[in-house]
Amino acid sequence: MSATNYSKEIQKAYQITEQEYGARTKKSKELHLQTQSCFPGGVPKNSVYFKPYPLALNNGKGAYVYDLDGNEYIDYMGGYSSMVLGNAHPAVVKAVSQVISQGTLLSAAQELPFEHAMLLCKRMKAVDQVRYCNSGTEATLAAIKAARAYTGKPAIVKMEGAYHGYHDFLEYNLSGPYENHPGDGIMPYTSALGVSRSTAQDLYVSQLNDIEGLEAILAKHGHRIAAVLIDPSMGNARIVPATQKFMEAARDLTKKYNTLLIFDEVMSFRTRVGGAQEAFGVYPDLTCLAKLIGGGFPVGAIVGKKEVMSVFDVTAKNKVNQSGTFSANTVTIAAGIATLKEFDHKAVDYLETLSVTMEEGMRATLNKYKFPASVIRIGSMISTHFTEKPPLNYVEACHNRDEFVNLFFLTMLNKGVFSAHETSWYLNTAMTPADIEKTLAAYDQTIEWFASIV
Ligand SMILES: Cc1ncc(COP(=O)(O)O)c(C=O)c1O
Repeated sequence: MSATNYSKEIQKAYQITEQEYGARTKKSKELHLQTQSCFPGGVPKNSVYFKPYPLALNNGKGAYVYDLDGNEYIDYMGGYSSMVLGNAHPAVVKAVSQVISQGTLLSAAQELPFEHAMLLCKRMKAVDQVRYCNSGTEATLAAIKAARAYTGKPAIVKMEGAYHGYHDFLEYNLSGPYENHPGDGIMPYTSALGVSRSTAQDLYVSQLNDIEGLEAILAKHGHRIAAVLIDPSMGNARIVPATQKFMEAARDLTKKYNTLLIFDEVMSFRTRVGGAQEAFGVYPDLTCLAKLIGGGFPVGAIVGKKEVMSVFDVTAKNKVNQSGTFSANTVTIAAGIATLKEFDHKAVDYLETLSVTMEEGMRATLNKYKFPASVIRIGSMISTHFTEKPPLNYVEACHNRDEFVNLFFLTMLNKGVFSAHETSWYLNTAMTPADIEKTLAAYDQTIEWFASIV
């Protein structure tokens, strides 16, 4: 982390924290030095990296993960929110062990994907049909292709700050805030190298929870807009939830302007048995799923009502091409079935209870030390924003005091709390009230320290 622009007190805090991290994680550092030779930046994928060097984990069991030096961490990373049951859940291990010796990639019709799909259809009111792919990135790519095919229109509206994977059509407006042009929304902008700038022609960007802004875009450009795409949790913007009013308005406006409404529930599906759409009572035409529905194995799915899903119908003369060598492979599907069965109403309610305790405890700590930060929770996803008020959209989320974001992550890591690199925590059903208490004690110490150096 580059702390050079920060106050002397903050720079000193970084120094202390990095020294402590260095002393605890010698083997992680050693590994990182070795892996420089064969991985760009020393990591097998970007999201593993953080400064001063990434933590190297050895194994995980239940609510905990263990690093190469043997340190134990409560696992709030949870595979970027995928692992709702915790690590190596016995039901998942059993399901995978049963299928793994029977051929893992048969590349033919099988019974298991039907069972998995029926579980999704049963949980989700707006879902009749399912198609599988291997990641959330693929799911959003296939969903926007389906929307274009169904409506015959080329463009998509996304929300500023919302991450939908790293393909060219949606890797925009992730590091703003950017300029607003009334009626045209926010200028599509990408700082990601390698993204074809031509994709911006078919993209409009709105602010989450800005009903007027969204309507203005649809009123002016609705004739060329195939779909409005919303992640109801904005999980990758450190969690910024959509409001009830915005979700309802998005449903009404997309109907009015003959465009589809797509929800990206790759993360937010964990918030209710039927996803965040169940909590809002607002149902999209298509939903993108991934993460938890694969039980810890690579997965993605596009799900929705039969009428729209029929664009994928392989027997039709014209169809959207949707396939993938590893899509619906036996291991993923078996792990996914075990996870969906375990992650029932009782499990979701249990997680909700833990999450409420966590949220209340975090708020109480912030009040106790009068520390200017806020807590946002949507189901079992919870985040500390270093903003005085909970942000309502990405622009407000950008007002986070960055000097505290990385410091918070690394300080909590030193105290045995492993999380997504920003400030988001994903709870899992292997956690106990004692784990939450332990975490809150670490949170209290951290915020007390931060309050003393502001
Ligand atoms: C909301 C959302 N959509 C899409 C994706 C991309 O999913 P994947 O990493 O499986 O490609 C992510 C990943 O974090 C996500 O959070």
